[in-house]
Amino acid sequence: MNRNRSREVMERARRVLPGGVDSPVRAYRAVGGEPPFIVRGAGARVWDADGNEYLDLVCSWGPLILGHAHPDVVRAINEQAALGTSFGAPTELEVELAETIVAAYPAVEMLRFVSSGTEATMSALRVARAATGRDRIVKFAGGYHGHSDGLLARAGSGVATLGLPDSAGISAAVAANTIVVEYNDITACERAIDASVAAVIVEPYAGNMGCVPPEPGFLAGLRVLCDRAGALLVFDEVITGFRVARGGAAERTGVVPDLACFGKVIGGGLPVGAYGGWRALMSHVAPLGPAYQAGTLSGNPLAMAAGLATLAHLDEAAFVRLEALGARLEARLDAAAANAGVAARIQRIGSVLTLFFTDRPITSERDTTHVDRARFARFHRGMRDEGVLLPPSQLECAFLSLAHDDADIDAIGDAADRVLQEMAE
Ligand SMILES: Cc1ncc(COP(=O)(O)O)c(C=O)c1O
Repeated sequence: MNRNRSREVMERARRVLPGGVDSPVRAYRAVGGEPPFIVRGAGARVWDADGNEYLDLVCSWGPLILGHAHPDVVRAINEQAALGTSFGAPTELEVELAETIVAAYPAVEMLRFVSSGTEATMSALRVARAATGRDRIVKFAGGYHGHSDGLLARAGSGVATLGLPDSAGISAAVAANTIVVEYNDITACERAIDASVAAVIVEPYAGNMGCVPPEPGFLAGLRVLCDRAGALLVFDEVITGFRVARGGAAERTGVVPDLACFGKVIGGGLPVGAYGGWRALMSHVAPLGPAYQAGTLSGNPLAMAAGLATLAHLDEAAFVRLEALGARLEARLDAAAANAGVAARIQRIGSVLTLFFTDRPITSERDTTHVDRARFARFHRGMRDEGVLLPPSQLECAFLSLAHDDADIDAIGDAADRVLQEMAE
């Protein structure tokens, strides 16, 4: 596989961008080799600067649930671009997308659009502190909620992949207000969630230590503990919102949070985030209330148009199809590992999955110490040589889109058969 052009551009990139990238995991530190520089995507495929074609299981880390350059999304963006790209003034598109999310998501009566998932979680916690008058936040080890200061403690894949427990550059005063608990450990939560806690923030299906579903009763247990302590329950649905169901993990699990954060799918591949919740809580947000939060490009019309075009496709049939595609991929990878005699465990929610190189279940960050990261790196490189792009870290999730079809899944399965056989030899 020719990679000269990608290598050349990376050399230039390293001179002007830290590590050559704008988000650390893209540098391929965990799997080795140079990242491909992508020039084009269509449906389930991307092409790099060297002309190599790949079946894409990254899907921009989740947003591209319709696949790359879906004609309806491209048309919506083009039509809006011709009318203007940003006004810094209200547009009806924001109202439409907000109405769509309010109609789909149980706890959200009102929401505010921002430009990233990071802003969404950071702002939701500001609202929680404003509403409760408390400072402390509980988060889970291996849970990633973007890179705001208070949320970077034990923050999952991106940070863990670099071998860092936490980020440098965060003041002790900020860090002191973040309490970190092991995911799926309700006993530890009982101790941590008391009357000093403003909010518990959780990825209801954890996706940043690989795909780790909640154990039965865990989320319901959090709901009870929050109610008892007068703390707010914040679901970070940046990955799961409109990905595991229209109403996200709240719909799928039946547990309703007080505030929810969105990103990824709701922007259809453009930079969008949102946070929302009950009207009484969102009334703390300026200009209705005293919790200040603003953004030059918030509710950007191109992003709103792309989001609306994307959500329009996500009916019940779409989720049935995503589930079937996910199940097919899981079965193929499972069989490939079993046939090769390689210890592997696949954890999946709908169209989101991780193949962990271990024979033990992963239920929390603690368990991720058992996974064989070197083996994953080999698998990743092998799959890339076969023309399949996986997320470049063992502790990330692969994403399917509605543009993938059974033949694509089978091609990925065949590639996994060959790569795992070779690894076993
Ligand atoms: C669960 C979760 N929350 C928040 C974020 C941050 O979103 P963004 O990268 O848009 O800032 C991410 C990003 O991957 C995420 O997975």
